[in-house]
Order: sequence, then C-alpha cells, then structure tokens
Amino acid sequence: MSAATFAERMLQLKNDAFTSLGVSVGLRLGLFEVLGDMGRPVTPRELATRANCKEKYIQQWLGQMACSDIIKISTEHADGEERYYVPEDRLPSLCVDTGGASAVWLYGLPVFANVQHQLEECFRADGPQGIPYEPYKELIQVRSKLFAGRFWPNLMKQLADNIPSLTSKLETGASILEIGCGSGDFMKTFARKFTKSQFFGIDSCSEAIKYASETAANDKISNVAFAEKDGQNLPSDWSGMYDYVITVKVIHDATDPKKMLSEIKRVLKPDGLASIIDLPMRSKVSENLHSPITNTVYTAGLFHCIPSSMFYGGPGLGPCWGVENMEELLATAGFKVKTILNEQIAHYVCTDK
Ligand SMILES: C[S@@+](CC[C@H](N)C(=O)[O-])C[C@H]1O[C@@H](n2cnc3c(N)ncnc32)[C@H](O)[C@@H]1O
Repeated sequence: MSAATFAERMLQLKNDAFTSLGVSVGLRLGLFEVLGDMGRPVTPRELATRANCKEKYIQQWLGQMACSDIIKISTEHADGEERYYVPEDRLPSLCVDTGGASAVWLYGLPVFANVQHQLEECFRADGPQGIPYEPYKELIQVRSKLFAGRFWPNLMKQLADNIPSLTSKLETGASILEIGCGSGDFMKTFARKFTKSQFFGIDSCSEAIKYASETAANDKISNVAFAEKDGQNLPSDWSGMYDYVITVKVIHDATDPKKMLSEIKRVLKPDGLASIIDLPMRSKVSENLHSPITNTVYTAGLFHCIPSSMFYGGPGLGPCWGVENMEELLATAGFKVKTILNEQIAHYVCTDK
C-alpha cells in the first residue's frame, strides 16, 4: 500500500470513527426507530418532539447522520425546510434488536470509550495495572443483546454435535455447572430443553447473578439456579458433584486460570467432562490477520479483558491468547483435550487423563 493510499485509509478511518459515535447515540436513544416509526421525512423539530429530545441536539445529529450517508435528506418541500428519513431497507441494520453484532457493538461503544483515559494510564510503565469492574457493568446487557436469538441455541447444538453422548446424558438427567455464566442465557437455554437435568450458573459478578436470577424467574424456568461464587475457589463439598462443567470465554479473564481449571477438574464426577469454550484465535498474531472476528476480539481484549484481569492481580491472558497456549494449559492441568475449531469458537472437550 502506497503512503498516499494509506493516508486515504486514515482519513476514511477518522470519518468512520466519528460517524460511529453518532450512530451509537442514535442506537442508544432509539432515534432511528423513531424516524422509522414516523414513516415520512421529518423536520428536526418533529423528531425532537416525538423522541422527547432537545431540538438543537437533534438538528446537529441529523446533519451528522445525513452527511455520513447513514440517513437521507429530502429538500423538495413547499416551506423550504429540510427533512430527514431512514430508507426502509436500512432500518433493520439501525435497530439494536435486528441489526446483529454490528448494531450491538456500536450500541456498546461508550463502554470502551469511557475507559480510554484509564487504559492510557495502564499502558505506562509506572501506571496502574488495570481497570476495576465498575465501568464495565453495562457489558452484561450488551453481551445479552449480542447473543440474543440464535447464538446460544446454536452453541448448544454445536456442543451436542461435538460430544455424541451429551444429549442422552442431559435427557436422562444430569448435573451441570457453568462457571462465569454472565447473563445466564446459556444455562437458561439448556434448562428449557433438558427439563430432567439441573443447571447451576455461577459468576463472581453480583450484577450478572442478579440479572440471571431475575430473568430465569421471569421466564419461570425451575431447573436452573444462579449464585455469586468464585470459580477459582469452589466449595469443598462440591468435589465429584458434576457430570458436565462449562465455561464460555472465562479462562482468559480469570485471575488464576490454573486454579480455575484445577477446580473444574475437582468438581467433575470421575466420568464427567468439561467444555471449555473460548475464541478461536491462534497464539501467533500473524495467524490471526485474516480472521473475520480479529478486529473485534483484539479491541475487546485491549479495552476490557486484559485490564480487568490485571486489575485483580491476574495474568491478563486476554481473548487472543490463542489455541496453542490454551491446549498447553489444559494439558498441564491434567486434562485430555480434544479441540474443535470453527470461525466463531474454540471448543476444548476435556476429560480426565
Ligand atoms: C467474557 S465474560 C463471559 C460471560 C458469559 N460466559 C458469556 O459468554 O456471555 C467472563 C465472565 O466470567 C466471569 N468471571 C471471571 N472470573 C471469574 C471467577 N473467578 N469466578 C466466576 N466468574 C468469573 C466474569 O464476571 C464474566 O461474567
């Protein structure tokens, strides 16, 4: 790439970054949906009134969105006033519930933007180790939106496909533990399908457990429960208690990954198995250059996973730590491992050696 082409790329990058801030505001305030509901080109005042916002801000935002070609402007009006609308075929992409991962990440952008100054301080040799949990609270809802719909049922199906004995085990009745369950959506998905099994989700984050418990109660799912617990220090009387243990994207966040794995091993029944699920990044950066999820995963790792692990004294493995390193760690923890990779996840099926 020539220097001039790269400079053009930087200009585009700046423009897209600025636009993404405005799109994020629109997604969070539901402005695109209001525009869509209004069903015709509207003036800034009309949108401000309908969305219960200040006209001055709406006017500037509409200008930003129109000049970035996110929405359209219409000028053919007798009163000479400009009006704005979202083309119908763009509306699904501009709504958090229908826009897929792009819309949800843009919705969640302020979580990362809010910690940037703290992150810069963490870079410095004499700066803090990391960032505490507080500014990341909203990620529980962001993740829940990100994976709403088909994600958890698809992941459940992948696990069943990867482990032939799993479905019959769960249909007969088994005890399942998820460590680092976050919103609890995965356990709830399992519990709805396998009603004879008992599912238990734990997380060290009290807000996540509150959310998981409340949503399970609202959905009246009786074979799932959640509790705030440290997956690196499970109760001593849980030894040999579980048929199946799951973690999804937790080991790379843990403050003591080795301890978490040894606890997983301890609480499994002798013939039990564990599914450790993480991202399918390779341990060498040069092997990740063409992955479609690389950009998102490195960004989330830098702005969230590494600083939050390191703040609490962890090694900050991050989500790009990679398959090769993870396989080595699992083997050291005494597991026999079968790794199954696709573009979205790495599934390590672990049994006792
Ligand atoms: C990246 S999030 C993944 C959440 C969920 N599994 C998902 O995929 O949406 C990592 C989760 O692990 C939890 N976690 C980290 N260390 C933990 C520990 N020692 N014990 C229990 N949970 C832990 C965090 O609170 C967070 O909810």
